[in-house]
Amino acid sequence: MTMGFIDAADSPPRHTNEIKLHGPEAFAGMRRAGRLAAECLDMLVPHVVPGVTTGRLDDLAREFVLDGGGMPACLFYKGYRHTVCTSINHVVCHGIPGPKQLKEGDIVNIDVTVIVDAWHGDTSRMYSVGPVKRKSSRLMDVTYESMMKGIEAIKPGLRLGDLGAAIQEHAERQRYSVVEAFCGHGLGRVFHDSPNILHFGRRGQGDEIRPGMIFTVEPMINLGRRDVALLADGWTAVTRDRSLSAQYEHSVGVTETGVEIFTLSPAGLHTPHTMGASAD
Ligand code: MF3
Ligand code: CO
Ligand code: CO
Repeated sequence: MTMGFIDAADSPPRHTNEIKLHGPEAFAGMRRAGRLAAECLDMLVPHVVPGVTTGRLDDLAREFVLDGGGMPACLFYKGYRHTVCTSINHVVCHGIPGPKQLKEGDIVNIDVTVIVDAWHGDTSRMYSVGPVKRKSSRLMDVTYESMMKGIEAIKPGLRLGDLGAAIQEHAERQRYSVVEAFCGHGLGRVFHDSPNILHFGRRGQGDEIRPGMIFTVEPMINLGRRDVALLADGWTAVTRDRSLSAQYEHSVGVTETGVEIFTLSPAGLHTPHTMGASAD
């Protein structure tokens, strides 16, 4: 997501005519990039266990992406020095990999962006570290469902507000909150392009959804309040109230009739967080 790059609150208004409409060549490129990114998240599933360091997961991801003919898009992006972001528990996004070990009961988002033939594939999922509390798995379930409801709302002629509203309504029905400080983004040959994709909104408002648009849907959902704070490292965003936060992300393209998801899991590991047994 795009805090610091395109902040939903600070960015200038965007207009439909600034939004690129991509053709078949772009969709073909996005399929290749999206697949490698999704395969990277599939590869990591068995490695997300108690005791593994987030730095080790980053090393595995970097090697996998390079071996697969891609480039890690985040490496050296705006001074970032890693392949993935690893956001644990109350970390909302942009957690930095390092010597920290995962422990049983943690929930962690791993977010990877790859470049294949100049096209960007950007996706993230939640992982359970061993058995986790029911409140943690419920938050992750609802976050996945919220993302999918947003994606299901993507149809030519509808508006970006319909997408945001679908996400917000599902999350708030469970009394969770939607983070507003970060948003999804257009992508393609550009990593963070217009439009901003807000994960909240009102039906019928916002730019019209048109065939050829390519963007991410990546809601961050909190158990507590929506407010976030930035840690002193300049990257790590946490919930202000230190409540749990979860996120899922897909890269998608708008077709004549609906939507194509570029980052589906080839191994069927769409929701790796469901693999751990419950701890309560
Ligand atoms: N992958 C993130 C996104 O979804 C961006 C991370 S940029 C980084 O947009 F520099 F923090 F890696
Ligand atoms: Co993104
Ligand atoms: Co991402």
